[in-house]
Amino acid sequence: MSDMADPGASTEAGGRPSVVLGVAGGIAAYKAAELLRRFTESGHDVTVVPTASALHFVGEATWAALSGKPVRTEVWESVHEVPHVRLGQAADLVVVAPATADLLARAAHGRADDLLTNVLLTARCPVVFAPAMHTEMWEHEATRANVATLRRRGALVIEPAVGRLTGVDTGKGRLPEPDEIFAICQDVLARGVAAPDLAGRSVVVSAGGTREPLDPVRYLGNRSSGRQGIALARAAASRGAEVTLVAANVTLPDPAGVKVVRVETTEELRDAVVSASGSADAVVMAAAPADFRPVSATDRKIKKASDGSAPALELTQTPDILAEISHARLRPGQVVVGFAAETGDDTGSVLDLGRAKLARKGCDLLVVNDVRGGAVFGADDNQAVILAADGTEADVPPGSKTALAHAVWDQVARRLEPDTTTHGPD
Ligand code: CTP
Repeated sequence: MSDMADPGASTEAGGRPSVVLGVAGGIAAYKAAELLRRFTESGHDVTVVPTASALHFVGEATWAALSGKPVRTEVWESVHEVPHVRLGQAADLVVVAPATADLLARAAHGRADDLLTNVLLTARCPVVFAPAMHTEMWEHEATRANVATLRRRGALVIEPAVGRLTGVDTGKGRLPEPDEIFAICQDVLARGVAAPDLAGRSVVVSAGGTREPLDPVRYLGNRSSGRQGIALARAAASRGAEVTLVAANVTLPDPAGVKVVRVETTEELRDAVVSASGSADAVVMAAAPADFRPVSATDRKIKKASDGSAPALELTQTPDILAEISHARLRPGQVVVGFAAETGDDTGSVLDLGRAKLARKGCDLLVVNDVRGGAVFGADDNQAVILAADGTEADVPPGSKTALAHAVWDQVARRLEPDTTTHGPD
């Protein structure tokens, strides 16, 4: 709960955020039980509204026991409480997981043929859909159009994950892990903003530390965990962006709704970032690429010499990806962001070195971390100053990596040229 801010005024009487968990009729409904537990165990007041088909997969007793509340699917039950209007009106968040092709179609067309679709029509809070279906159904033109309609109206539709589907099939259409859907929902609730402000934007985030091979078992690496990059990717996804995460040796779970490209070396990181950046509105280089690599890696393990001597390593510089994409500007108006971990030295303070680096790299924003005393690496919290090429600087107080991620996207959003293609009325 450390990332949870005050979710706003419309919480139920006890001050607990009020969540409606819609469950549509897909096999991934069983994962929604885990999502429900995450919500209830962290103090949310959850009403589960399954569709009639969802109950074929997971029965009413499970939802009632886990939420501690009666469960309804139709508008004809407890009519005196007017649930078809009241539930949506009172919610701080409506999340539908899994959202099937049929549910997305009914929501996009404004149908009100069961309790869940009525809730969707009456809710004025943020609405999150976590679709899950077979790849063919997700890619069908009808589903694409329905998803586009829902996004245009301000809903957050999380991209499904790629992986094992029902039966023997694999592909895009898998429900993201409950923990990751929960993280997005927490983020949306904490921000309390009804419409995702990065909808229609495409962003690239790099994360982790590269490894430069010496021989088949050894490499030169660094201590970057990838946590800040993951937080940036997740925050952008929760603000509606289409996110590509280029992950160098990251072992943390994939954030929901994010396309993950895995790389190992700086050269591979460069190729993946450059290739994804051609269509990106913003690129954030949170990875720690190795600055040097061995001139050549041997294909046999380097053995210890019997005379006690150690091999001399000849190193060469790796490409500076941030400088390259900043100078190339692969898409007009693209906002490029770098990170710098500095300790300061005889030539200047942490911020002096940050300003010099910002100018040298040619990026729009540089997030400067003070790492004196080994702060930041692997930690959950972070603090920084965001320096901008226009001379402004924004202090980000100590807080979570999620909070820093949002501070970065706030600065990026301010610098993006207005998007005339995806917003506005249907
Ligand atoms: N970076 C990069 N390519 C590299 C090295 C770094 O794109 N080969 C990016 C990092 O992702 C980060 C920024 O550059 O966003 C600053 O990284 P840093 O290591 O501080 O920069 P260096 O140019 O390596 O400067 P220093 O000599 O201070 O290490």
